[in-house]
Amino acid sequence: MTRIAVIPGDGIGPEVVEQAVMTLDAFGLGLDFDHLDHVNAGTYLRTGVALCDEDVARVAASRSALLGAIGDPRVASPAYGRGVLLRLRFELDLYVNHRPARLLSDRLSPLRPDRPRAVDCVVIRENTEGLYTGMGGALRAGGEHEIALDIDLSTHRGTSRVVEHAFTIARREVCMVDKANAVEHGGSLWQRCWRAAAARHPDVAARHLYVDAAAMRMVTDPTGFDVVVTNNSYGDILSDVASAVAGGIGTAASANLNPERGFGLYEPVHGSAPDIAGTRAANPVGAILSAGLLLADLGHTAEAAALRNAVDLAVADGETTPDLGGSLDTGKAGQAVRARL
Ligand code: NAI
Ligand code: MG
Repeated sequence: MTRIAVIPGDGIGPEVVEQAVMTLDAFGLGLDFDHLDHVNAGTYLRTGVALCDEDVARVAASRSALLGAIGDPRVASPAYGRGVLLRLRFELDLYVNHRPARLLSDRLSPLRPDRPRAVDCVVIRENTEGLYTGMGGALRAGGEHEIALDIDLSTHRGTSRVVEHAFTIARREVCMVDKANAVEHGGSLWQRCWRAAAARHPDVAARHLYVDAAAMRMVTDPTGFDVVVTNNSYGDILSDVASAVAGGIGTAASANLNPERGFGLYEPVHGSAPDIAGTRAANPVGAILSAGLLLADLGHTAEAAALRNAVDLAVADGETTPDLGGSLDTGKAGQAVRARL
């Protein structure tokens, strides 16, 4: 049995993960789901720890993991999200954050005038370094002499391995995005690692954009991108832009990967959406497409393609939740996909 750890989390997380698990089950591949239903804000509020050492060991012992979303309006402290999401990404060394953006249907493009725009790119976000390591500190916090410092960390190992991965999966081009004109030291390291990887992959074109230009281009000409590789914070932002031009945050999938270890944690890009939690309006497509990435990485290539195709057909038929213009609830939208497998 292939064991998959499942962390539904908070808000709409359990609602969309239920649909993703039912969709995986529809293939009859004998996947064995290990549900960690207690990893949520309720547990954090009660005990101060949502994800304990034993939970991390359960996830690490699984073949892959599927996650909904972490975040609750009752919890103000960033320590909660850090203790779950960043702990899993950092401790399991899931250094690649793979975020594909593929326009599911022309009518979903927010860009006008309407015309076919085959948006189909992947943002590879460095997932273990950058601005999100927690390195830094505050001095004289609270007063007008306060100093706040968040270190933007880039290592040679961390940068070269994620850039190498981008070239490995690219079909035609890798666009490296940085701000080397203003952020000098990290920029120089990224530039050198990117050039070295480009030299190892002469069959893949290498392009460079500064992050401000990349954000603009992602809106004005999203079809021009194949694989975008960038640091943790720029990747966080650019992948949200990519998901918006590819049909909306409810459709965006992601994989947190360590390619050498062959382990992946799969999750929709969206958060716990407390504004719509419990209304059954959550779009399950981001979670279902994340489950599709899981299938592809487990080697179930035909099933992964069938899943993507079923999503495309359901969207084309308008069998969707309200965010994509349909009138179905979360469960019926998931069922509409499964009916087309
Ligand atoms: P969000 O992604 O939860 O929601 C942003 C907007 O998109 C909301 O209007 C929401 O209703 C809508 N939306 C999101 N997912 C949707 C779906 N599947 N179907 C239809 N509409 C959808 O981001 P927000 O509001 O900034 O964060 C809410 C909470 O989620 C916070 O606690 C935040 O920390 C957490 N969060 C967690 C993430 C994770 O677990 N990886 C990622 C992003 C945010
Ligand atoms: Mg984000």
